[in-house]
Amino acid sequence: MNHLQIINNDTSRSILLGIKQGLGLLIIGGGIGALTQFSRYLWTRVTGSFYYRIDIDSKDKTFEWMLYWLAQNTDVKKSNHLNAETVYNNLGKNPEVIFVPSVGSHSIQFRGKTIWISRVRDSTFDMGSGAPFESINMTTYKQNAHIIQELIQEAMRLSLNRDIGKTVIYINNEGSWERFGNPRSIRSLDSVILASNLKQKLLTDIREFINNETWYRNRGIPYRRGYLLHGPPGNGKSSLINAIAGELNLDICIVSLSQKDMDDRQINQLLNNAPPKSILLIEDIDAAFTGQREKVDSSATTTNNSARNLTYSGLLNALDGVASQEGRILFMTTNKLELLDNALIREGRVDLKVHIGNATKSQASQLFNHFYNLSADNQLSAQFSSSFEDYQLSMSQIQGFLLQYINSPEKAVENVHLLAPIAIH
Ligand SMILES: *[C@@H]1O[C@H](CO)[C@@H](O)[C@H](O)[C@H]1NC(C)=O
Ligand SMILES: *[C@@H]1O[C@H](CO)[C@@H](O)[C@H](O)[C@H]1NC(C)=O
Ligand SMILES: *[C@@H]1O[C@H](CO)[C@@H](O)[C@H](O)[C@H]1NC(C)=O
Ligand SMILES: *[C@@H]1O[C@H](CO)[C@@H](O)[C@H](O)[C@H]1NC(C)=O
Ligand SMILES: *[C@@H]1O[C@H](CO)[C@@H](O)[C@H](O)[C@H]1NC(C)=O
Ligand SMILES: *[C@@H]1O[C@H](CO)[C@@H](O)[C@H](O)[C@H]1NC(C)=O
Repeated sequence: MNHLQIINNDTSRSILLGIKQGLGLLIIGGGIGALTQFSRYLWTRVTGSFYYRIDIDSKDKTFEWMLYWLAQNTDVKKSNHLNAETVYNNLGKNPEVIFVPSVGSHSIQFRGKTIWISRVRDSTFDMGSGAPFESINMTTYKQNAHIIQELIQEAMRLSLNRDIGKTVIYINNEGSWERFGNPRSIRSLDSVILASNLKQKLLTDIREFINNETWYRNRGIPYRRGYLLHGPPGNGKSSLINAIAGELNLDICIVSLSQKDMDDRQINQLLNNAPPKSILLIEDIDAAFTGQREKVDSSATTTNNSARNLTYSGLLNALDGVASQEGRILFMTTNKLELLDNALIREGRVDLKVHIGNATKSQASQLFNHFYNLSADNQLSAQFSSSFEDYQLSMSQIQGFLLQYINSPEKAVENVHLLAPIAIH
């Protein structure tokens, strides 16, 4: 076969969604124009026999990968007709301009071979983004067919590697997931100090879940797992989730229930269409439904427009929805477990509840050592942490205190009574 089309049947959201949104919106450079029907016909006839061609459609994510690769290519940079295209971050902050081949024909050298690249713009428009459909057609001599495939592989790696060692954050945009800002550097798990073996316990559980798909499938149990982290604020619930995502190379999708336009349809779409390899995170779940518990069984709430359009039953339905093929890891956090309705946290919706409490003495002393970069067995940290009781203070409170004595662990110990005035000495 000498003419292939890339069909990528990965139904997940494009990892380059952010780019996709911005593509074609701002086109500064001029192209040499599309080829005429006739020359296109001739070209097809000729290329049929000596050449090998791969077409990449702009609906496929390979298209964005190729454009990104081409933007870094030196032959392309030397070219005298380029398009400047703005790649928007999702909040519209710091858009990045990349220079890509304009519509028309270009040639590049790849591994010593020539590849002709033509970027063709269709006359039809994508109703969603308003951008015209496009394709990149890559042609080379038949005997070099493999290098086009290698090129596409390399383009994919280049794009995906931008995110290696990073956690990508997704947020809701009218019911679909959009990359938010630049990927964050991974937060190390060591920097999150928890009581005893909580970290290990959670990690083991998630790893087991990830490696256990067959077990669920064989039993017809939806392949998903829910975690609830609860406990007083300031003890690292969110940091823990960030660090777990980093450790397991997962991305994070933040579901904000308090978003004004959030409704039952959106929450359902969001929870059931998360990008692959990601954690869904609903923070402060109690806040969203305080005082709304009476609505649990009231289907009438869906027609009540006086307040929000997200109902409690809508949320529960979304949680129970048909999970996407990849499975689902859901984290919820709350400061007030007692406010949560039992229905929300029952088995199947929440499989593991983890209490993250105030600092124990041992945590305080670990934090002290971590903060001042001291070895584990020093007198100062022991003295420091013996000045208050287990669970009396939150981790952020202790950290805030240490920040006042940033260069002097001795001073911190000296003044520890200011931190814990009611502590027993
Ligand atoms: C480029 O690829 C598209 C999509 O397959 C195809 O419709 C078009 O005819 C091709 N154009 C050229 C010039 O090869
Ligand atoms: C898979 O998950 C089930 C249910 O949580 C558990 O009982 C089983 O031990 C797990 N199997 C493996 C191999 O982790
Ligand atoms: C809608 O809900 C509010 C309280 O959230 C209530 O006061 C109001 O009567 C309801 N309206 C209808 C039409 O159900
Ligand atoms: C709820 O939905 C209705 C109809 O879809 C809309 O008019 C109203 O503005 C929405 N309310 C909120 C708070 O978004
Ligand atoms: C912490 O201390 C060790 C030696 O005790 C040193 O090698 C390391 O560079 C220090 N780290 C920081 C961030 O200061
Ligand atoms: C946890 O610490 C906070 C202060 O940071 C305190 O107000 C609260 O009472 C503590 N909680 C418990 C359960 O001791």
